[in-house]
Amino acid sequence: MPEDKQSQGLENLLHEKRAFPPSPEFAAQANASADLYDTAATDRVAFWADQARELVTWKTPFTETLDWSGAPVARWFADGTLNAAYNAVDRHVAAGHGDRVAIHFEGEPGDTRTITYSDLLREVSRAANALAALGVEAGDRVVIYMPLLVESVVAMLACARIGAPHSVVFGGFSADALRSRIADADAKVVITADGGYRKGAASALKPAVDEAIAEREGQPATSVEHVLVVRRTGQDVDWAEGRDVWWHEAVEVADVEHTPVWVEAEHPLFILYTSGTTGKPKGILHTTGGYLTQAAYTHLNVFDLKPETDVYWCTADIGWVTGHTYVTYGPLLNGATQVIYEGTPDTPHKGRWWEIVEKYKVSILYTAPTAIRTCMKWGQEIPGGFDLSSLRLLGSVGEPINPEAWMWYRRVIGGDTAPVVDTWWQTETGAIMISPLPGVTAAKPGSAQTPLPGIAADVVDDEARPVPDGGGGYLVVTEPWPAMLRGIWGDLDRFKDTYWSRFRDVYFAGDGAKKDEDGDIWLLGRVDDVMNVSGHRLSTTEIESALVSHPMVAEAAVVGATDETTGQAVVAFVILRSEFAEGAVQDEVQETLRTHVSKEIGPIAKPRTILVVPELPKTRSGKIMRRLLRDVAENRAVGDATTLADSSVMTLIASGLAKPA
Ligand code: WTA
Repeated sequence: MPEDKQSQGLENLLHEKRAFPPSPEFAAQANASADLYDTAATDRVAFWADQARELVTWKTPFTETLDWSGAPVARWFADGTLNAAYNAVDRHVAAGHGDRVAIHFEGEPGDTRTITYSDLLREVSRAANALAALGVEAGDRVVIYMPLLVESVVAMLACARIGAPHSVVFGGFSADALRSRIADADAKVVITADGGYRKGAASALKPAVDEAIAEREGQPATSVEHVLVVRRTGQDVDWAEGRDVWWHEAVEVADVEHTPVWVEAEHPLFILYTSGTTGKPKGILHTTGGYLTQAAYTHLNVFDLKPETDVYWCTADIGWVTGHTYVTYGPLLNGATQVIYEGTPDTPHKGRWWEIVEKYKVSILYTAPTAIRTCMKWGQEIPGGFDLSSLRLLGSVGEPINPEAWMWYRRVIGGDTAPVVDTWWQTETGAIMISPLPGVTAAKPGSAQTPLPGIAADVVDDEARPVPDGGGGYLVVTEPWPAMLRGIWGDLDRFKDTYWSRFRDVYFAGDGAKKDEDGDIWLLGRVDDVMNVSGHRLSTTEIESALVSHPMVAEAAVVGATDETTGQAVVAFVILRSEFAEGAVQDEVQETLRTHVSKEIGPIAKPRTILVVPELPKTRSGKIMRRLLRDVAENRAVGDATTLADSSVMTLIASGLAKPA
């Protein structure tokens, strides 16, 4: 592999030699010690069985740990039964921790709510009864399209409580994106809100749901029977009598007692759509027992959580997998006290996050490199104006973290003492896979370093041979793990094809990686057509489809170009249809198409730059050579173009860029 981009990153990283061992004080109190690696290595499967028994409460204990006979679909703890909401809530109340705060909610306008585990039990039970009253049964799918509110977490747990898999769709996705996800999951109910607060204003959500499930000519009728609506902003909403139900009316009158539905360990817990290399998003399927086990295990050991004293804050939205595993499930399974924040980091001022850390005495912070780089740009005097001394551990996720950002995070936010854990994982892996252990590992800025105890990962070359220390290649997971995806919703072939066909019998993650001289793993970014913009996964093909769906566009090619703040940025090259090409103005075309992509997919997919070009570089077999376009987008000399069908194309593009379209 390594494409030019990867090898460049690799060069930079090779110069990174710093390492930060944990302080003796931190190591002495840490949940995980070096023994954990030894125990796991002795008998990996037995290790996971122990974790599952220790960290999860089972209604019926399992007797069988792993069944891999149906590979690549694993079955973990399959003859056990349990309930995810019971594990996240009820058992803490039963153990006498009902008065512990589960969630400190901070709304963007400054409103707050404090929810104890007893409160949460009441809310989740009521919501479960309300969903049941709307006809939702075990196995039915429920789509959740919400801002980050207490009700959003409650909604997820209420679904889990009745055995109805939830599918959370990020609130920033458009009505069209929502529609296709609702259709693919064949959802019976959608839970939403009138709106939420973002950047200082109420932003509507319900209209997108109305549009997503409206009848459309020539398309099958929606599967959605009811829309449950949380009142957050109080803005006006259209109302479909009989279909739409206010959350407060349904939930507040519902019984506070609810018996959880005990499900088998392999019962689907959720579907979460993520971008792949084709235009159609993949519904990643996760089941219950294995997912919960690894969520609890990683949250406890990687974040060194002490439920009685820590205040934990993961800044992710529940629309992403990080919000599933490290807002809803992991922390609540471990009985943590956590903060959730509805809004943006710079509303009403750029110190909002640090104000929240100070206010709630946050001790563990988990966020994305993009956010860290943004704060770096804003300047260290902003966090410097707040008391951040409560922070004792920092986590990073979502994209490779550059050593400069890592160092800044540790020094400015972590007071030069808090260990930083760079955690590599994916929607598909369900939970953290590769990360330092904070009390054990001498952390290296920019490296996720080591597969966690119980996880078997490696870096291999084109022929699937493990590369030696110092070598680069593809990241693979070589043994099944409890939280692994169980498939792509409704598409077993795509599941096999995407992850299990590149190399036989091992999981292909889609990431490039290298092993340093100590055997530590450095992640180098995607090797497929998936981009990573601000830690959000976007598919080049999906954005290309959105662009060509506009009447003006004949052809489009999208690449992820390196961007200082967002990691990558979307850059599109379009060929206009001849009737539009004449007299087209670059800036106007760009604006029209940016708005169009925003409507088709959502604002997060909006290209940063759209360049009108006369031709696209293609191989003789018609494949677009994105590598060359990336060179253009990153202002580099164009690389080897000898496999182009028409080698004059790059000159043409360059000349097209030189003069306004
Ligand atoms: C990237 C997010 C480097 C990677 C949890 C992966 C990372 C994709 C890291 C998954 C990290 C995530 N270092 N790269 N610590 N964490 N990635 O599904 O390319 O939204 O394949 O899951 O993000 O993104 P996803």
